[in-house]
Amino acid sequence: MLLYEKIANDVSNLIDEGTFKTGDRVPSIRSLSKQMRVSVNTVKEAYALLEDKRIIEAKPQSGYYVAARLPEIPHEPEFKKRELNFSDFSVSDLVLQIMRDSHSEDLIQFGAGMPDHKLLPVAKLNRMLSSESRRYPKESVSYILPLGCEVLRTQVAKHMMKAGCMLRPDEITITNGATEAIYLALQAVCKPGDTVVVESPTYFNFFQMLQDLNLRPLEVPVSYTDGLSLEALSYVLENAKVRACLVIGNFNNPVGISIPDRNKQELIKLLSIYDVPLIEDDVNGDLSYTDERPKVAKAFDTEDNVILCSSFSKTLAPGYRVGWMAAGRHQARVESLKLISNIATPTPVQLAIAEFLANGGYEHHLRSIRRVYAKKAAQMAEAVARHFPDGTRITRLKGGHTLWIELPGNIDTVAFYDKAIKSGITIAPGTVFSMTDRFSHFIRLNAASWFEKVEWAVETLGLIIKGLKTTKGTH
Ligand SMILES: Cc1ncc(COP(=O)(O)O)c(C=O)c1O
Repeated sequence: MLLYEKIANDVSNLIDEGTFKTGDRVPSIRSLSKQMRVSVNTVKEAYALLEDKRIIEAKPQSGYYVAARLPEIPHEPEFKKRELNFSDFSVSDLVLQIMRDSHSEDLIQFGAGMPDHKLLPVAKLNRMLSSESRRYPKESVSYILPLGCEVLRTQVAKHMMKAGCMLRPDEITITNGATEAIYLALQAVCKPGDTVVVESPTYFNFFQMLQDLNLRPLEVPVSYTDGLSLEALSYVLENAKVRACLVIGNFNNPVGISIPDRNKQELIKLLSIYDVPLIEDDVNGDLSYTDERPKVAKAFDTEDNVILCSSFSKTLAPGYRVGWMAAGRHQARVESLKLISNIATPTPVQLAIAEFLANGGYEHHLRSIRRVYAKKAAQMAEAVARHFPDGTRITRLKGGHTLWIELPGNIDTVAFYDKAIKSGITIAPGTVFSMTDRFSHFIRLNAASWFEKVEWAVETLGLIIKGLKTTKGTH
């Protein structure tokens, strides 16, 4: 056993014996290195090992703490070769129902993936909306070009340097949310009947867009540690005619996992061999639980093969509908599509967001919401562990706010959805995140809606599941 492994073992034993309990701070790296007379790097390695094993967790600017004993992570989806030959698909009406239910004030909202509205800087944005409309009286009410306001494009370009991405303002198009950006990207690169690789599971609206554009999704499984499976992707590219690949590279929805940098590089290499453009959705990229913002795949795009799409819906104001895209060589086509569909995104909201990025303390805002989401996700996962039946499995989040949960046995999560609604709680059943049935016993819960007073709702969900569990069997 190497020295750092021995130290990790000693700390782990102290936790097992109860010297340090869940939530306790463990000695800092420096103090443990002094106590044990080993180098700081050795303790760092020991702590990294304990973090990988989820025994301790780092809290930004605070230190290392004993992590809650959470259930294991879910079983990973497997790639089935027969899915290469899938035929028709049809998006369930449940998606619309979930959206409708997400607007009911009477329900506890664990279903839709909305941000916590209390964390949105409403007062500041309101002030900026009015000050910027006064500052630009003519522009704020006039037609503008499809690319959108230059002040905002400049701020987006500056911000994306933190994601390793060097963009010029004139390479960016402002859109009505990431939704429009992705829709335009699909329209720009695909023709009806084409096949588009998506992650399995993935954000349910993608299937609606694909259906609407008469495109066919081909699902490639997501590993719960490394994101999109490159092995499965390579098989798919070799054996099917794929027109585009649509991924959520950072803190994806619903799993919450990011593709590591080395895999992002591999992904880009692989796609360029087959000349398949990557459409990258980065709506959650700013919601990392550590202060290190993950890079986007576009940062590694040397061949101009990535269309990067994002928005301010998760961090500032989903209702403003301000998103953006960097479409690279497809930009002229995107501009013309944007012009045809709605000319441009409304100006006042663009100006307000630009001002927030320039002078509103966006980085400070991000640091504080990241901390809150990290805490909410940890507390909600612990509540799920307390109240859901044995055998429940949960992914570990490093950013974003959706928990991906595998339920034991053959639980039908659509039936679960109906019962949960009757008890005043929304959930998102796993079936809507795939056109296959591989996630029918999964649910996604939105940790943004968690606070301690709603623990009763998690407990109620646990009771409903226990009542639903009629057949035995595992997946
Ligand atoms: C992965 C992902 N992409 C896109 C969107 C939609 O973003 P926007 O509101 O900017 O259109 C969402 C919203 O939940 C999402 O989770």
